[in-house]
Amino acid sequence: MAEIHGLGSSMKRKEDARFIQGKGNYIDDHKLPGMLWLDIVRSPYAHAKIKSIDTSKAAKIPGVLGFITGKDLEKYNLHWMPTLAGDKQMVLPIDTVKYQSQEVVAVIATDRYTAADGVAAVEVEYEPLPVVVDPHKALEPGATKVRDDKESNRIWHWEVGDQDGTEAVFKNAATVVKEKIYIPRIHVASMETCGCLADWDGVNKQLTFYVTSQAPHIYRTVLALVAGHVGLSEENIRVVSPDLGGGFGGKVPVYPGYVLAVAASVLLGHPIKWIEDRSENLAADSFARDYHINAELAADKDGHIIGMRMDTVADHGYSDAQAAPSKFPAGMFHIATGSYDFQKAFMKVDGVYTNKPPGGVAYRCSFRVTEAVHAIERMVDIMAHERGEDPAEFRMKNFIKAEQFPYMSALGWEYDSGDYHKALKLAMDMVGYADLRKEQAEKRARGELMGIGISSFTEIVGAGPAHQFDIIGLKMFDSCEIRVHPTGKAVARFGTKSQGQGHETTYAQIIAQELGIPAEYIKIEEGDTDTAPYGLGTYASRSTPTAGAAAAVAARKLRDKARKIAAHLLECAEEDLVWDADRFHVKGSPTKVKTIQELVFAAYTNYPADMEGGFEATHYYNPPNLTYPFGSYICVVDIDRGTGQVTTRRFVAVDDCGTRINPMIVEGQIHGGLTQGFAPAMMEEMQYDADGNLYGGTFMDYMVPTAVESPKWEVGETVTPSPHHPIGAKGVGESPTVGAPPAFANAVVDALWHLGVRHVDIPITAPKVYALLKKHGAALEE
Ligand code: CDP
Repeated sequence: MAEIHGLGSSMKRKEDARFIQGKGNYIDDHKLPGMLWLDIVRSPYAHAKIKSIDTSKAAKIPGVLGFITGKDLEKYNLHWMPTLAGDKQMVLPIDTVKYQSQEVVAVIATDRYTAADGVAAVEVEYEPLPVVVDPHKALEPGATKVRDDKESNRIWHWEVGDQDGTEAVFKNAATVVKEKIYIPRIHVASMETCGCLADWDGVNKQLTFYVTSQAPHIYRTVLALVAGHVGLSEENIRVVSPDLGGGFGGKVPVYPGYVLAVAASVLLGHPIKWIEDRSENLAADSFARDYHINAELAADKDGHIIGMRMDTVADHGYSDAQAAPSKFPAGMFHIATGSYDFQKAFMKVDGVYTNKPPGGVAYRCSFRVTEAVHAIERMVDIMAHERGEDPAEFRMKNFIKAEQFPYMSALGWEYDSGDYHKALKLAMDMVGYADLRKEQAEKRARGELMGIGISSFTEIVGAGPAHQFDIIGLKMFDSCEIRVHPTGKAVARFGTKSQGQGHETTYAQIIAQELGIPAEYIKIEEGDTDTAPYGLGTYASRSTPTAGAAAAVAARKLRDKARKIAAHLLECAEEDLVWDADRFHVKGSPTKVKTIQELVFAAYTNYPADMEGGFEATHYYNPPNLTYPFGSYICVVDIDRGTGQVTTRRFVAVDDCGTRINPMIVEGQIHGGLTQGFAPAMMEEMQYDADGNLYGGTFMDYMVPTAVESPKWEVGETVTPSPHHPIGAKGVGESPTVGAPPAFANAVVDALWHLGVRHVDIPITAPKVYALLKKHGAALEE
């Protein structure tokens, strides 16, 4: 008999059988008869007028079959499309380009290489225009306007909190600390770039659209909304999101290349494939972060935090193309009061247009929670140092206490559960905190630089309660449909879409736990809008809190049905039945038993007369609240005074994501997430020159860490279940990416504080640190 593998089982990932044998089914594995290729001419300028487009030379290349320009699309009113943040974005420009690498002309050819030759032969004449790269300058009076259709470069202004109350506590504070914190633009750089294959069947007016999407149902609806007027009707659109080689938020937005492939398929009557190359992905697709934060923290004479203020400029590029919930233009940035108990806070955020690629995606992050965590964890550390208090003790003193949950934060979030003291205590024990502080003091006396950095973060995941969260009006619930076949084997379908997180395993485990059907006999399907129930997709660690909960509730509906059938077969009252892992027995008569397999078979062969046959259930889960995972990370670094090189000696990560469905998968998520927290902390940044030219357009200069650079992770856990989630689980995928960067930054500043260094912006590269050492007279020079 197969094992059930319910909650807490580290069963091996079911999907890995195909992944490790090279049998994954990615977008570029899809090939259709008559398929043609699309490639894109992109702008070398960040802002320029298009004077002319000449395709005559390209058209002469054998195999080049056609072109699409903005003017072609304009005829169908398809040259602009809506973004998921309620703004709009060009599919192709008519007369002006707004960022470097913007799509200008689509070329369609018989194969990928011919399409690329066609792109190289298209001649576009540009007239460069003034460029705005700095969002602060973009807000100055008289700044070049990025968008002709808008009054100014300010996209929106958003405020939250008690401004007067916060002013008052700052006036009475014993200590106030202020810092400018920049969280630079970075890129998700998933292993697989974006791509699609559009297949228009002109006879049946049916579009099958294979696409790298984390949210296939939203894509179907957006396609219907954008192109309904030219005959794309939602019942005739099938979006299929195949295996994805990572997404991390970068596969949530709809890109112009997708719309172009659909348009080309409709125009030419052939399936059209478009696959981005690496440089296109880095240069043109959605970026993440790019927040300029002015943060202030106030404490009373005993070192209790009493207030926080933040004033932020958010650079969105030329269009607000983030996938933000519509009520919160700065996402969950107002979780920035973090893990600390104080009641006065106020923040304002201005979204700004610049001549850079559009976006602001939630890169392994719940809509700006990374920015919030970085800001508060840096500020708390600065405050502790400023007051001469130990950063761990300072946190312990200011944490929300376990008995205060559910806790209402100053900026309006109700934290579901937590025990912050326990997590930090465990991290301190694991790392040997007291000994490390002694060692640091000894080293400092010898002139050596060693730092210990803490990050005690609170996350906010699982969007969301439908009354608070929607994307372009679509409420953010998620779904599960379970069909159990007569022999007791099941298929379950979801509105989410795994990009490597292991949903095929963990969702099966949730259903296995509730129904007793072994997880290996439960096939999980996601990503095909023709078969899966509607859902808002996978990003922002929302799958477990939403669709995972839907799986538990749908399975419980089936267990209720199984109980009725058991009562019928065992001729007893339903109340007399006891559930035990995979069977019901009659109370007091352990031999009067019906297993789940027998009960499912009976659902097709011998069920009560007043019951519907079959064994299927669906649930659309609207979470009553978000879940609030948390953790405490401690990073230990040594700094070379001769080079500025920072070496991570230890990194201890204690995470609490409530009930762990599959501890092995959770650990894998944490290892990967920590590496994606290390990356922006120490290496990655997308930089632009004053003309809007991207410096890091390839992996030669956009520094993604490999196993060689990545520190060794030491992980620990506490378990504080979510009180409102059916199985007590919280999301986990993004916690480490969110929590890790300030631990690195705090460690580096901790090593340098005595020299007079208060802050260093990420990425903390060796040249940056060496410059600081020089400035403060601590560099070893030849
Ligand atoms: O939305 P996404 O799948 O990216 O994030 P998640 O809900 O945090 O889940 C990431 C992976 O970890 C999934 O396979 C989850 O089922 C698994 N997980 C778990 O085993 N236990 C938890 N408490 C949370 C997530």
